[in-house]
Amino acid sequence: MKKFLSVHDVINLDALIQKALYYKANPLADRSLGHGKRIGLLFLNPSMRTRISTQVAAQNLGIEAMVFNVGQEGWALEFGEGVVMNGTTVEHVKDAAPVLGSYFDVLGIRTFPSLKDREEDYSELYINQFVKYAGIPVVSLESATLHPLQSLADLITITETFQEQRKPKVVLTWAPHVKALPQCVANSFAQWVNAWGKADFVISHPQGYELDTAFTAGASITHHQQEALIDADFVYVKNWSQYADYGQVTCHDPEWMLTRQKLSVTRTARAMHCLPVRRNVELSDSVLDSDHSIVTQQAANRVWAAQAVLSEILSNH
Ligand code: CP
Repeated sequence: MKKFLSVHDVINLDALIQKALYYKANPLADRSLGHGKRIGLLFLNPSMRTRISTQVAAQNLGIEAMVFNVGQEGWALEFGEGVVMNGTTVEHVKDAAPVLGSYFDVLGIRTFPSLKDREEDYSELYINQFVKYAGIPVVSLESATLHPLQSLADLITITETFQEQRKPKVVLTWAPHVKALPQCVANSFAQWVNAWGKADFVISHPQGYELDTAFTAGASITHHQQEALIDADFVYVKNWSQYADYGQVTCHDPEWMLTRQKLSVTRTARAMHCLPVRRNVELSDSVLDSDHSIVTQQAANRVWAAQAVLSEILSNH
């Protein structure tokens, strides 16, 4: 693996999931693989799980991890080509990325979207500029449109939880939120579930919240949440702002929050969420504090997802 920005960088998805599960059972099996290697973890935006799980994963492989909160502590970066830098940006990514490439063997980057300019966000300008100029493998720690380490952890969680000899029904359902959020987690989950191809996949959301079909093609899409939930084995709850009317929020209907009562039509479905979650806005306490919830297991699996990816990258370099 030369980089990890989306499911398209994965050669064998089932093998990657199995590798992660192997590391879950044997965390230190490859502890000398990363001897003498360093990973830089650059955060232009906040994080808890991604930051710490990737550090733990690196440590398990013997890689030294260094975290740099660029958004708070670094120079304001410019990403546009040919820009006259007489504004607020101080350093161009063309200059910063090769320097970082000389310090590290792998670079992880988190860059959220603006939610103002869809064309720029969906071009993945920021992370692609790091890929172009760093000269070392780049790992997405969540980019403008995708969150691949989260999606890999989600599929690891579904794989280890579902033991029946049939396809699970997986439902991605929109939930209310107090602010406009990116489409990254939902886009990415849809992309990975579709690439995996081992689930009956349904997406439910209010009208106007259609995601980019580049990610959702293959899923059944409905505006009727309760209908979608019938016979579900997994219910993934997530808010996102609108893709068509980019970044806008027009639905605040609390009826879209997932409650325990709604799960009565499912096959004792497991409730998933990437976290952080707004309790009693996106998901009720009655779900999060019940046996339905596997959100902690899901977040714990972020370590094994990151470890499998870093191992693949190191093995190829
Ligand atoms: N799910 C996730 O990426 O969490 P953090 O934002 O805390 O990293």
